[in-house]
Amino acid sequence: MRVVLLGPPGSGKGTQGEMIEKRFHFPRISTGDILREAVKQGTPLGEAAKAEMSAGHLVKDEIVASLVAERINQADCEQGYVLDGFPRTVNQVKLLEKMDNCQEEIVFEIYVPEEIIIERLTNRRLCSSCGAVYNIITSPPRRADICDLCGGYLIQRDDDRPEVIRERLKVYEAEIKEIVDYYQQKGVLYRVDGRGSVEEVFERIESLLVSELKKKVKPTRE
Ligand code: AP5
Repeated sequence: MRVVLLGPPGSGKGTQGEMIEKRFHFPRISTGDILREAVKQGTPLGEAAKAEMSAGHLVKDEIVASLVAERINQADCEQGYVLDGFPRTVNQVKLLEKMDNCQEEIVFEIYVPEEIIIERLTNRRLCSSCGAVYNIITSPPRRADICDLCGGYLIQRDDDRPEVIRERLKVYEAEIKEIVDYYQQKGVLYRVDGRGSVEEVFERIESLLVSELKKKVKPTRE
């Protein structure tokens, strides 16, 4: 089963992707996380991606697609995986189909109004050491600026500055309609209301995913 999470920056793709991973044991593949780690490590990939990411622009399709291809070929993705932040362009949709012509697919488009997006992103904090995500309003750490999980310092993402958030939203709007139309025609798209608590949003996703998985289980003969 391939689960694809679409949605604007701050709609909760990463948060919901982690919950899907825990509940269904499908590994979450976040192209944003992979790229951020490469930037942090100063690898050639990170060097190539850094400027685009901090400006809120997209990294080249071929670079991102090759990261995804490499990851989904690993053994833990055999039963399924969750894509968070990929595909993001029509070209990436095509590249994805080429690398894995998956027959079992469900796509969630999480929608959230812009004022909530801005509030969530400006209050998001990230552990500089383990990458855990917090929100100083809705899911704060126990000690200010310190990660509950590893004790690392919490930082703000470079692209969570208001001017970059606006640019990321523009970039998202430019491509999403065609992507959504494609998945709608394919009959695999569900729109999910991303407002409410993390748990409320997850309940919406979980029930759709459970009923989709049930359809895939073939009845056994007596
Ligand atoms: P990426 O990391 O994918 O960023 P994004 O898509 O902009 O999404 P975000 O990570 O900002 O938000 P999210 O939807 O995951 O929300 P989250 O769960 O964290 O990409 C970053 C950059 O990398 C791109 O701009 C691009 O440069 C590059 N890139 C990545 N993929 C690419 C690709 N395929 N092609 C080309 N370039 C690519 O939640 C946000 C906050 O809200 C958190 O603080 C969270 O705690 C909180 N929150 C979540 N849900 C709720 C809720 N229900 N109620 C209250 N608070 C909530």
